[in-house]
Amino acid sequence: MARITALSGRVVFDSRGDKTIEVEAAVEGAVGRAAAPAGKSRGKREVEPYPPGGPEEAVKILKERVAPKLIGQEYPGFTKLDQMLMEIDGTPNFSSIGGNTALAVSVALLSAYSAHRGEPLYSLIAQETKQEPGLPLPLGNVLGGGKHAGEGAPEIQEYLALPLNPRTVSEAVEANIRVHRTLGKILSKKVSGFPLGKGDEGGYAPPISVEAALDAVVEAAQSVGDAMGVKIGVGLDVAAGSIYDESSKRYVLKSQGLYLDREGFLSYIAELADKASLVYLEDPFIEDDPEAFAALRKQVPKTLVCGDDLVVTRRELIEDCLRRGAINAAIIKPNQVGSLYLTWLAVDACLRGGAVPAASHRSGETTDAYLSHIAVGMGCRLIKSGVLGGERIAKANELLRIGEKIGGSRVRRIS
Ligand code: PGA
Ligand code: ZN
Repeated sequence: MARITALSGRVVFDSRGDKTIEVEAAVEGAVGRAAAPAGKSRGKREVEPYPPGGPEEAVKILKERVAPKLIGQEYPGFTKLDQMLMEIDGTPNFSSIGGNTALAVSVALLSAYSAHRGEPLYSLIAQETKQEPGLPLPLGNVLGGGKHAGEGAPEIQEYLALPLNPRTVSEAVEANIRVHRTLGKILSKKVSGFPLGKGDEGGYAPPISVEAALDAVVEAAQSVGDAMGVKIGVGLDVAAGSIYDESSKRYVLKSQGLYLDREGFLSYIAELADKASLVYLEDPFIEDDPEAFAALRKQVPKTLVCGDDLVVTRRELIEDCLRRGAINAAIIKPNQVGSLYLTWLAVDACLRGGAVPAASHRSGETTDAYLSHIAVGMGCRLIKSGVLGGERIAKANELLRIGEKIGGSRVRRIS
């Protein structure tokens, strides 16, 4: 027997100091806990994170409408549980109970079941998805701009380091930390008076142009890669929705003096990819323009062109973009769909379609580390979870702990 014996919620704070929901659950008295993250540059087709009254109302709904239906029932695994939560919600986008409520309930119950069984979370997930557990390569945000930083930082949101051939997961994590540290030294020299301030995801947020930022990151990655004997690629999350001006239909990079239409921006991004040998490009265009993604892919066949706002962790959108040749990678953010089960369907669509699934944190995070278990247990090739900051390093350290169990050298590859 594995009955659900307790389920309750509370409001806690995330890494940005915003309120979020945390759920505490018990299975046969064994306790599990999970909190939900929050995005700032959100896709239009993400589910509603909360009912209209925010996290407080979510906690009330959990107590009055969700807990009474689940307490006393046998824990059925996340596939069935999440379907029950969708039924309780009764809307297509979790606007009644909130996607963050549903996700936190699902993960808290899975964690409680994991404590009850004495089996790690990643292993239970892998049993349900029928995947062989393996470690994802860490995509590390070392420099941040756009909506994740203040005025004056470069407009492109994330500058990422990606160790491509690490011998162990520990070496991969260390490589990203060293790129972050080396970048700090480079920026101190190049940007006079820059006090090494950081953006929401722990990357430096210097007052420089997009291209100066990218140059500095390429230099840091190269120097650390040479020193460690590891190939370290560089990537960008353009988060194009944040730099697109609807009224003029232009992509705006003020730091570069650029106001580009769709075609102009396509050439610009392709040139940037070529110049910096980018291995990864996320959301290079707005989410309504998968055709632009497809055109770019033809120009940069070696680069992972990844959809985030474009596909919002939804199986049908990923499948559609794969059919169009728009992407060969997709960001997997469980709270974009509010469900572990729907998250798995999205990962599965990637794996079936030959695309790279990349588990991802949000800019507003908690110190929970279940994202690492999801990545390991669902077959994600990459994990984007930041480099430094307690809420970011928590995910990296969890990968090291999982590595001790399954073998630290079982790091997945992207080619
Ligand atoms: P968000 O953005 O978590 O602020 O929505 C992260 C991303 O665009 O990858
Ligand atoms: Zn993104």
